[in-house]
Amino acid sequence: MNTDNIEFFDELLLASKTAYQRAYAPYSQFHVGAAALTAKGNIVSGCNVENASYGLTTCAERNCISHAVVQGEPVLTLIMIYTEQDRLTPPCGACRQVIAEFFSQSAQVVAVNHKNEQQVWTVAQLLPDAFTPQYLLAK
Ligand code: THU
Repeated sequence: MNTDNIEFFDELLLASKTAYQRAYAPYSQFHVGAAALTAKGNIVSGCNVENASYGLTTCAERNCISHAVVQGEPVLTLIMIYTEQDRLTPPCGACRQVIAEFFSQSAQVVAVNHKNEQQVWTVAQLLPDAFTPQYLLAK
């Protein structure tokens, strides 16, 4: 994590772990917790929520971002994804698109697991040449 955000690491980890524990994943048993830092320095979180109609499942990252919007803090600077998998979990394609809507291209996406292994990407690395709101505004 970069030096601007490192002071929030412990708080983001706690929030993403708590969200992880609340995941509703009775079908996949694959729990995911996410926590994001808002531009105002607050933290919002989300977990995956599955459904008996499987396709209606929403990922932790998108629930986290929706939570930020509901809180009135849609400008986000970093998102952490916590799982208890041996391999770190990157965001799925749908989440990458939603992340690109609310974070800058240089914002960090940080995957962490229970062994405290970490991997950091920028939004641009995860979704190069993203279709963002500017394309709708520019003629
Ligand atoms: N999942 C997430 O919450 N985030 C991701 O980026 C990858 C997948 C969830 C969706 C589903 O509940 C479970 O993980 C298995 O795909």
